[in-house]
Amino acid sequence: MSGIIIKGQNKLNGEVNISGMKNSAVAIILSCIAIPGVFTIRNVPQIDDVKTAKEILLCFGATIYDMDEETIRIDSTNVKNATISKSLMQKMRASYYVAGASLTRFGEFSIHLPGGCNIGKRPIDQHLKAFKAMGAEVCDGNIISAKSNDLDECCFTFDFKTVGGTINAILASLRLKKTILKNVAQEPYIGDLIDFLNCCGANITGFGTDELVIKGIENINNCSYTIMPDYIEAGTYIAATAIAGGNVKINNVVPSHLEKIVESFSKIGIEVLKDSNSLRVISNGEYRGTNIETAPYPGFPTDMQPIMAALLSAADGESTIKEKVFENRFGFIGSLNKMGADITQDGDKLYITGVEKLSGASIEAVDLRAGAALIVAALGANGITTITNEGHIMRGYPLIVNKLKQIGANIDYIN
Ligand code: EPU
Repeated sequence: MSGIIIKGQNKLNGEVNISGMKNSAVAIILSCIAIPGVFTIRNVPQIDDVKTAKEILLCFGATIYDMDEETIRIDSTNVKNATISKSLMQKMRASYYVAGASLTRFGEFSIHLPGGCNIGKRPIDQHLKAFKAMGAEVCDGNIISAKSNDLDECCFTFDFKTVGGTINAILASLRLKKTILKNVAQEPYIGDLIDFLNCCGANITGFGTDELVIKGIENINNCSYTIMPDYIEAGTYIAATAIAGGNVKINNVVPSHLEKIVESFSKIGIEVLKDSNSLRVISNGEYRGTNIETAPYPGFPTDMQPIMAALLSAADGESTIKEKVFENRFGFIGSLNKMGADITQDGDKLYITGVEKLSGASIEAVDLRAGAALIVAALGANGITTITNEGHIMRGYPLIVNKLKQIGANIDYIN
């Protein structure tokens, strides 16, 4: 049985380099379906979701050259429309970006529903509503298909903020002369995708506000682009250092993306010093409880919620966590309680009473961030923890075992 084994309570010291953002990498790679050209993409994280995105792109007939471990060159000049197999679509959530990208390139798409973490119902009604507003006729069933009637202009307002809906609508709108999207999500990695598309010749303005204006893409440039750093990966290493204790410099970050995260750590007494593109975390393993509520950016990110729950399980005092983005992102509670945590759930809220120390246990990762939360818990726990189903973690954390080892964690793979 494969897994990850961790002997807890080694202090973490040294430097860790943050990789490119998972959620922009997959969106940027799949956006190449929409636009014919040759694109060099740097700082691509070595994660399984990127492998899946590349596999999907190959099915469309793109050529991908691996220039080095973190640089790829995509030639999407000759891509042809394709329907991706259900099993490949269901390897991750972002696979549904082929829908918006195909609408732009081919005027149609046909997709199976995507997979991804099981953290709620995750419908795609807002994506389909946006496509319809752009003139597409949508057939919604087990296979969702759409054909575009060409519209020149479109204005669409999302009912609520959705990251995937915003990205899919941006990708689909590149075909139109002018699109206005209102009530859009503002996660920094959406800005990363927009910067990439603008670098390729698109004209998208308004990022950072509620409204985007997209004036399509006419002349495509073969561009070279560097993916922004992953602020959730950075937040995970802050939490790891906080619980284990130590002094770690976290390199290659954009501190402004981590404002809410750093604020939450300082509220519990963990010092995070900011530099222009790095952070330093200093912890003696002691910190207090707090109350956290997740929200779309610039609020506290739902992706950090399981990781904070693990950390707060060993805090001094009581904490609460309210999950307001997904209905069911608490799949880690059983495992943390098995490690001695005291967490109870009431609907969308967790009540956590901090314990002195967590204890090692044999536990299972149920999704990506729940898996990361278990690693964080294990780093601070007494004794040995084994985590199975580690494939979830490999979808989104580049070289996590090696990176943690480098800063002194006692962690390894088991086969
Ligand atoms: N929603 C709908 N209808 C829609 C779209 C969304 O009801 O048409 C709901 C969702 O069910 C959810 C909420 O709206 O309750 C927000 O969903 P959103 O669309 O913003 O999330 P997503 O696009 O499915 C992305 C990230 C997630 C991250 C969320 C929120 C990718 C590939 N995934 O998901 O990342 O948690 O935004 O920030 O970008 C992760 O990295 O572990 C992860 C799950």
